[in-house]
Amino acid sequence: MTALIQTYAVSKAYETFVALSDVSLKVESGELVSIVGPNGAGKTTLVNVLTGLLHPTSGRVEFKGHDIAGIGPVRLSKLGMARAFQLVHIFPALTVAETIATAVVSQTEKSLSLFASLSGDAAIRDRVREVASIFGLEGKLESEARLLSQGEKKLLDIASAFALVPEVILLDEPTSGVSTGDKHGIMRTLVDAAKKAGVKAIILIEHDMDLVAEYSSRIVALQEGRVLADLPPKEFFADADIVAAIVGKKPQGI
Ligand SMILES: Nc1ncnc2c1ncn2[C@@H]1O[C@H](COP(=O)(O)OP(=O)(O)O)[C@@H](O)[C@H]1O
Ligand SMILES: [Mg+2]
Repeated sequence: MTALIQTYAVSKAYETFVALSDVSLKVESGELVSIVGPNGAGKTTLVNVLTGLLHPTSGRVEFKGHDIAGIGPVRLSKLGMARAFQLVHIFPALTVAETIATAVVSQTEKSLSLFASLSGDAAIRDRVREVASIFGLEGKLESEARLLSQGEKKLLDIASAFALVPEVILLDEPTSGVSTGDKHGIMRTLVDAAKKAGVKAIILIEHDMDLVAEYSSRIVALQEGRVLADLPPKEFFADADIVAAIVGKKPQGI
């Protein structure tokens, strides 16, 4: 069966600096793959290549068998991959309902001019309500995004990606800037939402090793642009050398 995502010997250089070297990996249906590694290891570059935002310098990146090098977010979301950004897409003056509606409207390929008459469009309103309720935001539909807590902003960002009905979702540190106590709640909510929404795979960049240990089916560790390890969590955390290279210490309770 064709993998959802597959890279073949992907390298990416920024002028003379090689940020990714020879990265080959595969993501199959049912997986939650975490990408870990110290700052500068190439995680964001890899996600930018996987989402067709950056052309690899060499190698190939495929989504469902399609070459997606540099295709950009709009065509990628039509193929079925969505990415949640680190709050970049949240416009502070839009309400929660308007933010989710923007994604719903783009998915349904209705013209943005319809946005003005959204309140008249019951189907869109129902869908917005449905997405909001999956993320526990149904009580906040009329709140402006800027008034949400940091955790709610994260959920709104992820909800907007889910509204695109993706098969694969990429999350670059979905819990950054959120208190430790709220991180698990956000992860739980988004993993449950993914199941409900029929998302087939999640790719997660995450620094919190407790979350990585708990939620990943596989961990890809990058070091200086190379794949140092590609292992299930048990084996990953059992290898003290790998763990030390990535985080310097073992997480609690593993
Ligand atoms: N646009 C760019 N131009 C030049 N160097 C870059 C650029 N983006 C990232 N880099 C460098 O590539 C390396 C990997 O960066 P990045 O992918 O952001 O790593 P990570 O997300 O793991 O911290 C870093 O050394 C970074 O300084
Ligand atoms: Mg990064």
